[in-house]
Amino acid sequence: MADRYALIGNPVAHSKSPWIHAEFARATGQDLSYGAIEAPLEGFARAVEAFRAAGGKGLNVTLPFKQEAYALCAEVSERARPARAVNTLVLREKIFGDNTDGVGLVRDLAGNLKLDPRGKRLLLMGAGGAAQGVVGALLGAGVSRLVIANRTAARAEALAARFSGAQGCGYDALAPGFDIVVNATSAGLSGAAPTLPRAILGPGVLAYEMVYGRDTPFLAAARAAGARACDGLGMLVEQAAESFFLWRGVRPATAPVLERLRRG
Ligand code: ATR
Repeated sequence: MADRYALIGNPVAHSKSPWIHAEFARATGQDLSYGAIEAPLEGFARAVEAFRAAGGKGLNVTLPFKQEAYALCAEVSERARPARAVNTLVLREKIFGDNTDGVGLVRDLAGNLKLDPRGKRLLLMGAGGAAQGVVGALLGAGVSRLVIANRTAARAEALAARFSGAQGCGYDALAPGFDIVVNATSAGLSGAAPTLPRAILGPGVLAYEMVYGRDTPFLAAARAAGARACDGLGMLVEQAAESFFLWRGVRPATAPVLERLRRG
């Protein structure tokens, strides 16, 4: 029987991950299946155990379970520890957790979008699970400045305090001067956007929305201000490739998969 993997989250119905991993498996000749598990909000650990007991080899974890998944791990990678959140589980005798979101974002910026974060001034909006998963990778990529801004300023300050080289504040304390603005808030999912001071977004700025598959108010505001606007589809594909590599030891090509997703 093929090795079994899955995405676990709530909701998972519209995820593109099963399709992406099936493409990776086909392209690399790996014999595996990849499904989607919608775990009850109070039943994450039980659902993981049931999947493992049935022979499951690995899981991708999505909202709202990334922090709970971290707590479930017996061992975690160096990059998952400061994030305190994992999006990838390797179901060995002991559960191993990793976070591939940060490297996924950095590879999308540097590789697909041709904007290497090295030496760039970066604004990260949000202080929840999505933001905390990428701070370490952005600092590791050599940004010259990393400001974390959040509606609840205290959460941004607390997140920044966990990393040397990051500063935290509220949106009203921001002044223009960023090359890349990443929206890691969940505002776009409810048709809203963080209220940024004017002139943060403008020509020469890359506005990156982690949400994918919908035109959010942040993307629309970025375009209206003359910034370059990108959604998180590339990050989704890149983090998936890194998880695939972790499980299978084979690195799939991402460009053809991303191109097919963009074509729809
Ligand atoms: P996630 O794991 O998706 O990051 P989370 O931990 O609930 O989820 O965090 C959601 C993030 O989106 C937070 O940074 C939240 O800001 P607060 O900490 O101030 O709540 C942000 N967010 C959600 N809706 C928002 C909105 N309408 N405007 C601005 N920020 C919003």
